[in-house]
Amino acid sequence: MAEKIKVLLSEEEVDAKIKEIGEQISKDYAGKQVHLVCVLKGGSFFMCELAKRISVPVSLDFMSVSSYGSETKSSGVVRIVKDLDEPLKGKNVIVIEDIVDSGRTLSYLLEMLKDRGPESLRLCTLLDKPDRRVVDVNVDYTGFQIPDEFVVGYGLDYDQRYRNLPYIGIVEFE
Ligand code: IMP
Ligand code: MG
Repeated sequence: MAEKIKVLLSEEEVDAKIKEIGEQISKDYAGKQVHLVCVLKGGSFFMCELAKRISVPVSLDFMSVSSYGSETKSSGVVRIVKDLDEPLKGKNVIVIEDIVDSGRTLSYLLEMLKDRGPESLRLCTLLDKPDRRVVDVNVDYTGFQIPDEFVVGYGLDYDQRYRNLPYIGIVEFE
């Protein structure tokens, strides 16, 4: 199936917003160290850009969970594909996500990470589709609230493609 990509958020808009969130996090965690937990693969572009904008000491870890097949609807099944390398005990953890959609992935993940005894646990997402929420999740830092459209770029994929776009685009199926 052929598809077209329409720009929703330009590279400049996204970069400016990430800078803003980075400054906010630096203020909120003044005098502390933050431990960023990237949810792969989608959160990786956002995390790298965000980490560069945080002025307090930062450490990083990665995990991969799967709640999606190759299509555009959530299956509701969450599976840990790759777990974190390091324990979270005593750390100020911020989970970095690309998008909160139904909320299923994040609510599962946050419950699981909470059990590992972090000093604090927050959630930061580049995008939020509030209209699609099925499970309640508390988001601490949001880049943009967007309408119920399937988007790609800045880490987000359609069938593993388009993650490398430097902007956020809506996929238009023809
Ligand atoms: P949730 O469990 O429904 O909140 O699913 C969140 C995950 O679904 C995200 O981390 C993405 O990997 C994927 N996802 C949700 N909406 C989109 C979208 O518009 N484009 C690309 N991936 C999406
Ligand atoms: Mg994701």
